[in-house]
Amino acid sequence: MKAAVLEATYTPLRLTDLPEPVAGPGEAIVQLKAAALNHRDVWVQKGLYPGMKLPVTPGSDGAGIVHAVGEGVDHTWLGREVILNPSLGWGNNPAHYNPKTFRILGMPEDGTFAEFVRIDAAHLHNKPAHLSWTEAAALPLAGLTAYRALFSRGKLREGDKVLISGVGGGVALFALQFALAHGCDVYVTSGSDEKISRAVALGAKDGISYRLPQWQKELGTKAGLFNVIIDSAAGPGFSKLVDVAGFGGRIVMYGGTLGNLTDIVPAKVFFKQLDIMGTTMGTPEEFHAMLRLVEEKQIRPVIDSVYSLEEIEPALRKMEESRQFGKIVLETGL
Ligand SMILES: NC(=O)c1ccc[n+]([C@@H]2O[C@H](COP(=O)([O-])OP(=O)(O)OC[C@H]3O[C@@H](n4cnc5c(N)ncnc54)[C@H](OP(=O)(O)O)[C@@H]3O)[C@@H](O)[C@H]2O)c1
Repeated sequence: MKAAVLEATYTPLRLTDLPEPVAGPGEAIVQLKAAALNHRDVWVQKGLYPGMKLPVTPGSDGAGIVHAVGEGVDHTWLGREVILNPSLGWGNNPAHYNPKTFRILGMPEDGTFAEFVRIDAAHLHNKPAHLSWTEAAALPLAGLTAYRALFSRGKLREGDKVLISGVGGGVALFALQFALAHGCDVYVTSGSDEKISRAVALGAKDGISYRLPQWQKELGTKAGLFNVIIDSAAGPGFSKLVDVAGFGGRIVMYGGTLGNLTDIVPAKVFFKQLDIMGTTMGTPEEFHAMLRLVEEKQIRPVIDSVYSLEEIEPALRKMEESRQFGKIVLETGL
């Protein structure tokens, strides 16, 4: 089978012929129709992810048809259209994953930038019927992360005022769509005015460029303070999120793209009684709940662009440079 393989960090992924994977007990082989990129794939390529193991076929998101199942797996899965939950080995505690068993599909195990992938059959889910293959492949990792960030961690309530930073990102756009579906007023930040306009066209109330030095003041004047803020940038700009958080507000962070937090004024955190919290991926139950929300509200992932497996490098560079609005998808066998 064809697979895009990373052999050494900071090298291009190479299209390689690999043996088709074989299902062990409890596992399934899925013939992929489409896969999707996450920022994680860029971190993995640069060796900036904990527990690096090479060579590897990256890729955490995929949708396809169940091609084979191993011993002990229900044979009615065969031939079914599925999407994959890439949050592996979470464990029994919904508060956090078990660090001894948790992995994300696509490193250390081979992932979805290939024609076939092997996965524990417990991570197969029926593809939502209203989604195309490319839309279905776009959903799993980012959809799950956004769901847990908003609902389980951020305790989102209908009518809350929500701020999503860097709305062009994959997780951020799902957070926008899910919060809108939940009846919230959503504002966004972005480095691009065009992306803000596109977010407003999807239902955001308004947005502001995080490139403006005092954007938090302008946004505060326009929108007031926020109940829930979702962020993956962190870095020195995080203190501005503290400024626009309302009393009893919840700030949920799922990434640290811009590095360490600096200059947070403690008094703003304790007088406003803020909850600042982290989140990563989600539990199997949250994956189910995310799929239910997507199906009930007929939410369709926003696809930025579709590349072939051979075009993995330009696709990764587009993500690295934040040129996308929504998910970048690979056709692996449509
Ligand atoms: N903890 C988890 O489970 C989890 C899950 C998924 C992702 N992540 C992490 O979260 C981050 C985003 O992942 P992704 O896959 O959604 O990436 P992505 O699709 O590449 O999105 C990254 C976005 O970051 C935004 N950004 C850049 N500079 C910013 C700034 N100064 N302030 C606010 N936003 C800024 C950009 O938004 P604009 O284009 O709008 O400017 C960009 O589109 C990565 O670090 C990733 O590793 C963590």
